[in-house]
Amino acid sequence: MHIEPLTPSGFGALAKIDPTLHGAGIAAFGKANAAALRDALHGANGLLILPGLVGLCRTPDALVRLSRLFGDEVEDYRETPMARNHIHRDAGEVFIVSNAAPSNRQPPARPTPPRLADGGLPVSFPHRRGWHTDQSYRRPPPDISLFLCVRPAPRDQAQTLYADGTRAYAALSDAMKARIAGLEGLHAKPGTGRSETAIRAGETPPVLSPLEQPQRQPLVRRHPVTGRPALFLCEAGQMDWLEGPIVGLSPGPEGEGAALVYELMAHFTRPEFVHVQEWAEGDLVIYDNRCLIHAATWFEADRHERVMWRTTTRGNPGALYAGEAPNWRPAPTNDD
Ligand SMILES: [Fe+2]
Repeated sequence: MHIEPLTPSGFGALAKIDPTLHGAGIAAFGKANAAALRDALHGANGLLILPGLVGLCRTPDALVRLSRLFGDEVEDYRETPMARNHIHRDAGEVFIVSNAAPSNRQPPARPTPPRLADGGLPVSFPHRRGWHTDQSYRRPPPDISLFLCVRPAPRDQAQTLYADGTRAYAALSDAMKARIAGLEGLHAKPGTGRSETAIRAGETPPVLSPLEQPQRQPLVRRHPVTGRPALFLCEAGQMDWLEGPIVGLSPGPEGEGAALVYELMAHFTRPEFVHVQEWAEGDLVIYDNRCLIHAATWFEADRHERVMWRTTTRGNPGALYAGEAPNWRPAPTNDD
């Protein structure tokens, strides 16, 4: 296996393994080299790319076995409220992200304007929207996601953007670091009526079940493996813009909390902190939700079918969450 830095900045690593391996061979190789792969991931601020593993695209169970190397537990989506049409029929741990049936999930809109003046892809908030870390509306939040390209969209479309929370935090002014120390963001599940868009539109938020309540998360998380601090926040669709987005600051889209989210998110997604992932079949990106954020981009969904598989691990959120039962799972009853 050959591992090299993805960028001179140190964000991201590229691990090249034999692309002719079948799924079972890839899983076995991963197991034999698990420590090296984990070290590469943590050493690269939570972004590890393994290109061209086409053998994984026919074997969801091999992706699940590989995922187990990166967390105590690989989430089984059959045990969550996840709609069944987004779950792989042969592997409950595999979440399908696709515009094809039966998922029918549409990509985000194109930004306005769609390209920068120099022809480049817009990456920075608020020109680019949709930045988030997976399932941050849960306590404890998940650890690592594995994201596999099974069927790509055409080149120059459907990129995934990743922003380095570790370097973004380090580059903040001392005054901003002091200001956000101890502050918490209020994260909300998409579709629960608390997004910036829903609140600005004056929609009445529905009453949420106990398992759907918005959750507090620190704006700065210390990584449980590396010990390094990283920014941790989302924006329009995954924060609570009714009572938040920042606990203790004036709420709503015109409040102090919103102004802070806009300022931090513009900084977090500056081009020097962002990697643009162009996908080819079999590319696997392993990303650590504890220290980076990501965003999906537009593609011609009416002309092309794109299929991605995602797994998510959990079990090591850090000392802050020690002993917490998952807020999103029903408590066991006496009958269990
Ligand atoms: Fe995501």
